[in-house]
Amino acid sequence: MYEQEKTILAKAAIKHVRNGMILGLGTGSTTRSFIDVLGKWVEEGGQVQGVATSDETVEQANRLNIPLLSLEEVTHIDLIVDGIDQIDPHFRVLKGGGGALFREKVVALMSRKILYLADASKFVHHLNGPLPVEIDAFARPYVERFLQDKHVDVTLREQGGKPFVTDGGHLILDVDLKQVQDVQHFAKELKSLTGVLETGYFERQPDHVLTVEQGQVRQLAHPDLRDGGGLV
Ligand code: A5P
Repeated sequence: MYEQEKTILAKAAIKHVRNGMILGLGTGSTTRSFIDVLGKWVEEGGQVQGVATSDETVEQANRLNIPLLSLEEVTHIDLIVDGIDQIDPHFRVLKGGGGALFREKVVALMSRKILYLADASKFVHHLNGPLPVEIDAFARPYVERFLQDKHVDVTLREQGGKPFVTDGGHLILDVDLKQVQDVQHFAKELKSLTGVLETGYFERQPDHVLTVEQGQVRQLAHPDLRDGGGLV
């Protein structure tokens, strides 16, 4: 069901892309649909340059002949298009289910505008996690002990029976947020620990979110923006 929604969102997101843009390309299944649509747009003559947030996205963009730039080659990014794991009514967002949180956050921070694509499953009243936390492997016991002292459950992310390793060579701890009252404060506390590279709590909030309601795309604007939401 959500696969179909992702395709609808991808086709709506391409309307935000203009010739000449430098585009941040996120990671994950929703963004994969968007990059497929972007590949067709480029094939038909559209001109953009992308900045990828993961090796997986680099591979897909290369396969679709979408030109890429490294972060060193750009002074700004016009727009990032990415998926999310959870969003609450205040536009607070969790990301990193795909393990690309660090690069996604850096590219988002360099982007003038942020557009997230979220099928219906991503909307929650309260962010309840898990919160991915990217750490250096050496610091794992230290970070885990910190979390145990706070009575917070934590799971080392695995893939194929082995620890999952990010593109940057780090581990991910998935942290249960059920006992956490203030996610923003908690993420800040985690970020201050030695050995923590980044968390999946994205402080910079999106300008717009596209979602699908009964087959219709709806554009939601950040509460601070005045242009409101509406069908697109
Ligand atoms: C990748 O690290 C994540 O931030 C993804 O953007 C997020 O998990 C959304 O993924 P899906 O589009 O696969 O749901």
